[in-house]
Amino acid sequence: MGKLKIHGGHTLEGSLQVQGAKNSVLPILAAAILVRGESLLQNCPDLKDVDAALSILRYLGCTVTRTGSDVHIDSTTLTRHDVPDELMREMRSSVIFLGAILGRTGEATLSLPGGCELGPRPIDLHLEALRTLGATLEEVGGNIVCRANQLVGAPIYLTSPSVGATENAMLAAVLAHGETVITNAAREPEIVDLQNFLVAAGAEISGAGTPTITIQGGREMRPVAYRIMPDRIVAATYLSAVALTGGRLELRDIVPEHFETVIHALRIAGCEITLHGQDLTLTSTGRLEAISPPVMTRPYPGFPTDAQPCLVAASVKSKGTTVFIENIFQNRYRYVEELCRMGADIKLEGRVAVVTGVDRLVGTSVSATDLRGGAALVVAALGAEGETLISEVDHIDRGYDDIAATLRTLGADIVYIES
Ligand code: EPZ
Repeated sequence: MGKLKIHGGHTLEGSLQVQGAKNSVLPILAAAILVRGESLLQNCPDLKDVDAALSILRYLGCTVTRTGSDVHIDSTTLTRHDVPDELMREMRSSVIFLGAILGRTGEATLSLPGGCELGPRPIDLHLEALRTLGATLEEVGGNIVCRANQLVGAPIYLTSPSVGATENAMLAAVLAHGETVITNAAREPEIVDLQNFLVAAGAEISGAGTPTITIQGGREMRPVAYRIMPDRIVAATYLSAVALTGGRLELRDIVPEHFETVIHALRIAGCEITLHGQDLTLTSTGRLEAISPPVMTRPYPGFPTDAQPCLVAASVKSKGTTVFIENIFQNRYRYVEELCRMGADIKLEGRVAVVTGVDRLVGTSVSATDLRGGAALVVAALGAEGETLISEVDHIDRGYDDIAATLRTLGADIVYIES
């Protein structure tokens, strides 16, 4: 595991084109299994999680080649229907392959995803959706074995708007016979991107972005070229960094409505944000106001849980106190202890974090606890005096495409060092 060495205290200035969305490309890579022939995904970010997904596709028998941000997947030669434990352990969200493998081959075997750094990660909603479409499921030695000679479309009600379960249900329904209507579906922009890919490949799907998604299964799927949407959480991360350090950041070719709640919170904190088409410019003095009312994470279109850590980091030197309430994951504050080692004043009580602004952060050695928590440490280090050394940065590399080089284009003093 490498480390990031950051000398903070500088304002940042510059213009960025944000990478393709990790949480969009992962389900779309699974969707490529449904298409016999070679599909092309453009604007694919270079991430460890994408590498893990490509390894799974290759293991299944697909031909996968990558040229820069273009990824070609030919699933004609798919022969396997299982994802082995070592590949499942590389990325817990590999469960997203379940519906597509089952839909394509009639069988799917995955090792049960363990917990992760965010807390228990159950998949009961995924499995219930597949049962509703006619799959039989059994647990065999720590694996889930799913079988369905032919999936049949049916009404699916999700008891909570799970992103992954919505995506798995969509992917399984595409090759099912008949109509599937998913109600209480997750509404995240990444699900709209998945629908757009599937429709471009020939599926008949509508309603993504609303709580009701309708799929007419059994349509002929054909290879397609598709450009992945920009990553709204990465955008939120870099905006949070400049909000804390002070300076000016232009983000090009983004979709501001994908993270309106983040933009709103940063404006309340005193940042000036202007939108011009698909571009956004933020300027900040670096001395933010407290954000009120409390920042509550919610399923989309609420405030995204993935942006909570970086906004907490941006708030640590604010004038006043900001309250955060994490409603999605049980264990999403593991990074807070590391921020406090840098001088932050954050009190935790269950799902509530109370951030009282301090005058200064001081660089020190810290350790990334998870993907977005690690990104929060980078944000804080950029706003801290002196040197910060962040270890366990493999967590960060799961979701950020060369974060050090990206931040250096804004004038940050940050280098990656092999440990
Ligand atoms: C997706 O995870 C994202 N990951 C997460 O991003 C994101 O935080 C999350 O959606 C919420 O927006 C990818 O898209 C790869 P959920 P997912 O199913 O699908 C519970 C990042 O940092 N639940 O909406 O796993 C679950 O435990 C990652 O990029 C069940 O109880 O999220 C959690 O508390 C982190 N049973 C809540 O629902 C289930 O069957 C939300 O989970 C499924 C989920």
